[in-house]
Amino acid sequence: MNRKAKPLPRLSAAFAIAAGTLLFAASNGTATGADAPNPKARVAFQACAACHSDKAGVTRMGPSLAGIVGKPAAQAKGFRYSPALAKSKLRWDRKTLDAFIANPKAVVPGNRMSYPGVSDPTKRAAIIDYMQGLR
Ligand code: HEC
Repeated sequence: MNRKAKPLPRLSAAFAIAAGTLLFAASNGTATGADAPNPKARVAFQACAACHSDKAGVTRMGPSLAGIVGKPAAQAKGFRYSPALAKSKLRWDRKTLDAFIANPKAVVPGNRMSYPGVSDPTKRAAIIDYMQGLR
């Protein structure tokens, strides 16, 4: 019994070090992201800010875009989505957002976002960078 238990302290020490390293890496990554965002991101998002807030729960003509990356479409509370977007079954990740921002009507026909889209891929990437940083 004791023989089996012996290696444990060493293992857990190694685990603690590994976990500590991971934690450090994770928090370090977050800090870097917050301290050094894509400098063009905030400016690029201005194209959307007339209708979309970057603060959670704030509805303008469109729903807030805070925390949208990684979520299924049409989930903002208190916003009345078009049936088209509500039924789209889309999940917003960099790829689907890029396609939607490039041509909203093509990706979700019948949606109510009256915006023609952003043709410049660099600008779209900056906008998505900005949204990815929102909580
Ligand atoms: C003229 C106002 C307007 C502008 C400008 C606008 N949007 Fe929208 N957006 C809307 C509306 C309204 C909806 C809801 C559409 C629906 O329900 O069909 C929407 C929906 C969205 C959604 C889906 C949200 C969800 O909860 O699933 C995303 C993502 C989005 N817009 C991104 C953007 C981005 C990025 C920009 C800037 C490039 C932008 N929009 C510019 C009005 C706008």
